[in-house]
Amino acid sequence: MNHKILKYLFKHLTVLACLSTTALYAAGDLPTKFSNQGGIKNTRHNLTQNTLPNNGGGNMNSSRNDYGQVCVYCHTPHGANTTVNLPLWNRTINANTYTTYDTLNTSTLTSDVAQPGINSLSCLSCHDGTLAVDSIINMPGSNGYSASQQTTQSDAFLNQWATVFGGNATSTHAGLSADGTGCLACHSTTALAVIGGTATDFRLFAIGTDLTNDHPVGIAMPATGAGTDFNTPTATLASISWFDNDADSRPDSNEIRFYNTGSGPRVECASCHDPHGVSPTGIGGTINASFLRINNAGSAVCLTCHVK
Ligand code: HEC
Ligand code: HEC
Ligand code: HEC
Ligand code: HEC
Ligand code: HEC
Repeated sequence: MNHKILKYLFKHLTVLACLSTTALYAAGDLPTKFSNQGGIKNTRHNLTQNTLPNNGGGNMNSSRNDYGQVCVYCHTPHGANTTVNLPLWNRTINANTYTTYDTLNTSTLTSDVAQPGINSLSCLSCHDGTLAVDSIINMPGSNGYSASQQTTQSDAFLNQWATVFGGNATSTHAGLSADGTGCLACHSTTALAVIGGTATDFRLFAIGTDLTNDHPVGIAMPATGAGTDFNTPTATLASISWFDNDADSRPDSNEIRFYNTGSGPRVECASCHDPHGVSPTGIGGTINASFLRINNAGSAVCLTCHVK
């Protein structure tokens, strides 16, 4: 345990009196200063980062606009992105071509692989590193909307924002690129000198546009059920097939699913992950590590689909 974490734990002894340390650090995760309790606000997907102790979010002001709101980095109630079928989407989606998993040519892959579907492109709009994490279309307030932001990031547009918590990313709107620039200028092992201290190493989270070392996405559901080594989803709507564990006929956030955007059910990033975090113990509880829909202890995520 490093010095900073110890200091943090000491400061929060009163909180710790009612939380166990496992509640503070979700199992299997890189230790985080967020509590990972309850919902997205207390996770790494809170891009304001203003729930970090000591206003730690200020560290990021040189590289992203602090819009002061959690949801706005991904959603807007009005003026959303109409070029994609995602819920009230407020982010730029550009037309990248990805190196898909099948190009690795393993001899075992049988299902058809397409470019990542929209329920993966949502994640890749940050995690492939080609767009800034603050690249949104409709900023808070009524003066910051740009239709052209929907498909092309405009730094000039993003530079209009003067952040509510002081500081402003005036020129470097940074993303999760894997090359030691952008957010990874500090969040990698190579560049710690920049801040003269420790910033969590996030290189593993910078997925990039080469998806050959990631579980295939955009991949079709194969034949399932008896005689195969795949489980059959227990419920299906036009757009989604899922393992309806509580049999309530709705795809709940804690249920693994396939998305169907016109070419049959396929695996996408959001098949296994919920970007808001899911707490198995309900409202206020610790969310599953890595934004997984279910806890992967015993490989439960994998065994939902694969019979192995
Ligand atoms: C880091 C990006 C991100 C942030 C921040 C975010 N969301 Fe989402 N949200 C998504 C994505 C991606 C989807 C689509 C998931 C899918 O493909 O099924 C989604 C879907 C939704 C949906 C519809 C499906 C569902 O899960 O119920 C609602 C409602 C929603 N978000 C509300 C919110 C609210 C409210 C906030 C702020 C408290 C928020 N989101 C913050 C990424 C985000
Ligand atoms: C608005 C930008 C954005 C979007 C959209 C987004 N992420 Fe993230 N995600 C981040 C950032 C920033 C981090 C923190 C780590 C970092 O900076 O590399 C992160 C971290 C994560 C982590 C690591 C969590 C942990 O605590 O270990 C996972 C897993 C993840 N994201 C999955 C997803 C998935 C899946 C989606 C789509 C459903 C998604 N993200 C959409 C920005 C985003
Ligand atoms: C100038 C250096 C610097 C840059 C650039 C930077 N950060 Fe950070 N970041 C820090 C420091 C220092 C901390 C606090 C120490 C820690 O938790 O890693 C931090 C913390 C974080 C955390 C919380 C880590 C945790 O405890 O879970 C997230 C998430 C994060 N930064 C995301 C980003 C994103 C996204 C970007 C790019 C838009 C970015 N940072 C750019 C220095 C930086
Ligand atoms: C088949 C299920 C599945 C799919 C599909 C999937 N993931 Fe994951 N992902 C996982 C699991 C399980 C983990 C936790 C791995 C661990 O604990 O090391 C994880 C971890 C991560 C992490 C944290 C870094 C790491 O390697 O631990 C990120 C970031 C992430 N996923 C993003 C994505 C993105 C973006 C996509 C779509 C391109 C995606 N995931 C598709 C299952 C999946
Ligand atoms: C949503 C369903 C789903 C989940 C959950 C899932 N997979 Fe898969 N997986 C698939 C599909 C579909 C294929 C493609 C099968 C094929 O082509 O025959 C696949 C393929 C694979 C392959 C074979 C790749 C190859 O080159 O032949 C491996 C290995 C694999 N998955 C491991 C995992 C692991 C490990 C996990 C848990 C972290 C996991 N899967 C979770 C649906 C899933």
